Amino acid sequence: MSVEGKVALVTGASQGIGRGIALRLAQDGFDVALADLDFQEDKGLAVAQEIHDLGRKAIFVVADVSSRADVFAAVDQAADSLGGFDVLVNNAGIAQVKPFLEITEEELDKIFKINVNSVVWGVQAAAAKFAELGHGGKIVSAASIAAIKGFPILGAYSATKFAVRGLIQAAAQELAPLGITVNGYAPGIVGTGMWDLIDAELSKINGKPIGQNLKENVDSIALGRIETPEDVAKVASFLAGPDSDYVTGQVLLVDGGMLYN
Ligand SMILES: NC(=O)c1ccc[n+]([C@@H]2O[C@H](COP(=O)([O-])OP(=O)(O)OC[C@H]3O[C@@H](n4cnc5c(N)ncnc54)[C@H](O)[C@@H]3O)[C@@H](O)[C@H]2O)c1
Repeated sequence: MSVEGKVALVTGASQGIGRGIALRLAQDGFDVALADLDFQEDKGLAVAQEIHDLGRKAIFVVADVSSRADVFAAVDQAADSLGGFDVLVNNAGIAQVKPFLEITEEELDKIFKINVNSVVWGVQAAAAKFAELGHGGKIVSAASIAAIKGFPILGAYSATKFAVRGLIQAAAQELAPLGITVNGYAPGIVGTGMWDLIDAELSKINGKPIGQNLKENVDSIALGRIETPEDVAKVASFLAGPDSDYVTGQVLLVDGGMLYN
């Protein structure tokens, strides 16, 4: 079965892993809707242009994934503009680098709204659209190695990613009768804006020079190099495509050899 002309929506697609997944899905044959925050529109439009250059359709949609209304509107816009809806990639997320004893109520609310609530809204919106169109589909969400193991100074972040794994397992079982698979990808240390932030914030806390925290983490990877968005996109492509038809409720580690299960 080909994915030619099928429609995927990728959130947080203006940069980093989301951009990598959007480009890979376009190479696979999907038409792609890209969602991101309004200040990321120019970068999102540039990704849309790259997808046009690959011969596929693409649109950019402004959406804050912590808003249920925005996520539903983004799914509607993707389906209306691109003529169908088959795959949602809940990729958008943020990190917070904070010693456990200093995490505030405001920070905890914010990271859960962006990393966890967004996945609930995404699953709901995608399932409603699949039902409206009379077919099943695939929902793929960003987990992390921090969904499998809690990391110090990333306590709130780890909790959100554990939550995403729980949501994936529950939704997969509830939505299987509707022909919907629900899975996630769990990257390790990917060279994106997120790790620039984590490295800089860890430096402030532990005094190590900029780049040192990143280097130490990369040194622990069995395959011996930092992960790229393309490495993650290969697994997302599998989970979005027909080769994963008999896979559901899974969070696939793609970390170059950091965690083993
Ligand atoms: N970088 C890593 O090492 C790593 C490892 C494991 C998991 N992840 C996960 O992968 C996903 C992508 O991470 P990345 O490294 O590409 O990060 P990034 O910061 O480079 O990109 C994240 C994108 O999401 C967008 N975004 C943030 N908040 C949003 C919101 N409320 N609504 C819509 N868009 C929003 C940002 O504007 C940005 O374009 C995240 O869920 C992250 O937790 C990243």
